[in-house]
Amino acid sequence: MENTAAQRKPRVLSLIQPTSVPTLGNYLGALKNWKKMSADNDCLFGVADLHAITVRQEPAQFRKQSTEMFALLLAIGLDPEQSIVFMQSHVPQHAQLGWLLNCYTQFGEAARMTQFKEKSQKHADNVNVGLFAYPTLMAADILLYQANFVPVGADQKQHLELTRNIAERFNGVYGSTFTVPEPYIGQVGARVMSLQNPTQKMSKSDPNPKASVMLLDTPDQIMKKFKSAVTDSEAVVRCAPGKDGINNLLAIYTCCTGKTMEEAEAEFAGKGYGEFKTAVAEAVIEELRPVQQSFERVIGDKAYIEECMKKGAESASRLAQRTLSKCMKKIGFKQI
Ligand code: TYM
Repeated sequence: MENTAAQRKPRVLSLIQPTSVPTLGNYLGALKNWKKMSADNDCLFGVADLHAITVRQEPAQFRKQSTEMFALLLAIGLDPEQSIVFMQSHVPQHAQLGWLLNCYTQFGEAARMTQFKEKSQKHADNVNVGLFAYPTLMAADILLYQANFVPVGADQKQHLELTRNIAERFNGVYGSTFTVPEPYIGQVGARVMSLQNPTQKMSKSDPNPKASVMLLDTPDQIMKKFKSAVTDSEAVVRCAPGKDGINNLLAIYTCCTGKTMEEAEAEFAGKGYGEFKTAVAEAVIEELRPVQQSFERVIGDKAYIEECMKKGAESASRLAQRTLSKCMKKIGFKQI
């Protein structure tokens, strides 16, 4: 039986790019919330492989990373029987709606996106149209499924605002078509910072390997990275303005242990940074251990991964087509 609107659980959707193994930032800012929200919402989670080619990818590596990212989504505990887990490129409606939404987005709006400005600087030799249209494809990802909530890190807030504007504009012209989504940004972990430059976010593409903890790093690598994390000279473990390195480590620690900031500060009162850094590293190692063990199991079972991909593609496509057809009809495309 089809759920009525009144019975329907909130719909939650989010995607992640397969541009490398995710960082601890991706995990604490997004993936951990995905798992939490999957228990009592109607969820779709995906690998944003179409978005990834806005930066040049080496084909064999790209294929491998996309599969690994999908496997990681299963490894963090997303259950394909409960949530729809899919690859964006397996659902052609994303690119189709993306094109339509390009025609309802102003050039100036897209040009204002901070991420576009940053990425055009970083990849100055490849400022392609896809990079510019990245946020309209992201809007399509969200609006296709009539998502109510989108769990993301703080860096995606501006893209969510643009998505809301596009949805409201379209609804204003054609009548109610798209649900206007809300970002869901956690209070801690929404912006995990680089371990080497704690005024910058931890990023998959940071060339300094010490700056980011990757989800599949060994315990030894994790410990070393935290031990070399940049802090300050005050030698007091407390959360305060200007103490970017310590604030970041405290946020990571509270996120992994579930302790409050006050509890964490009390625990390390009178203790040195060395001891604190070791405790943060240990908390992260424990947090990631089950994910890593589960990843080892899943990645070895290619048949299972493909079966899950097919199932996800079918279910996502069915939902996506409903919205795409509705939207095309409203615009005035001739239906057959
Ligand atoms: P991506 O692949 O860069 O990152 C995936 C998720 O991780 C979050 N994140 C962080 N959170 C906290 N601290 C950090 N240092 C950190 N770095 C990244 C991101 O906010 C994101 O939630 N455009 C998106 C992918 C996307 C998407 C979508 C997301 C495509 N379509 C539709 C939501 C809905 C991106 O590049 O995320």
